[in-house]
Amino acid sequence: MLNIAVLVSGGGTNLQAVIDAIDKGTVTDAKITLVISNRTDAYALTRAAKAGIETACIRPKDYFDREEYGRAMTEAIEDAKAELIVLAGFLVVLPGNFVSKYKGRIINIHPSLIPSFCGDGFYGLKVHEKVLERGVKVTGATVHFVDEGTDTGPIIMQKAVYIKNDDTPDILQKRVMEEAEWVILPKVIDAIAHGRVVLKDNKASVIE
Ligand code: GRF
Repeated sequence: MLNIAVLVSGGGTNLQAVIDAIDKGTVTDAKITLVISNRTDAYALTRAAKAGIETACIRPKDYFDREEYGRAMTEAIEDAKAELIVLAGFLVVLPGNFVSKYKGRIINIHPSLIPSFCGDGFYGLKVHEKVLERGVKVTGATVHFVDEGTDTGPIIMQKAVYIKNDDTPDILQKRVMEEAEWVILPKVIDAIAHGRVVLKDNKASVIE
């Protein structure tokens, strides 16, 4: 059984996709043991509570510095016996001491086809605004391992979504979530739960 901690900051639709996939049995041998948010008002915390999942609110501003925040996050992860850490709409840059401790065990969902439209400043609706501004014809979502950079870790899975002529950022964000994010995040978690994600020479691949 793979114990998972999910880190959230907002609405929690990706968290909900994972909860539902576990309930439906499309993700097996995995259990969310903790949901952590940096915001007390994140609706994701409500989603977790409704699903009977333990929650914690750990806010960087409550700690003296990033090191201490990293230690608080580590303590919560260890208490939850989490083996996999999933960033699902989590908007805090994790401290280096935390990332290095859990390297190879932290994954993130990003709403574009990395390496396009990612890195500092590219999150949430902003990503889709830039996609439409550039006029690309294909976008999508990426699940990747988290390393010390921003959206720079090994790519595990991606799913493409075609742009439509009448797309607005909001319409596009919703379609990328529905057709890509909520599909590949559970798939990657199920693959990790069954030992089907291989990391070699800083490249990740999923064994079908
Ligand atoms: C979404 O755009 C997702 O791609 C990104 O964070 C945003 C909010 O996600 N990772 P959620 O609804 O909180 O899961």
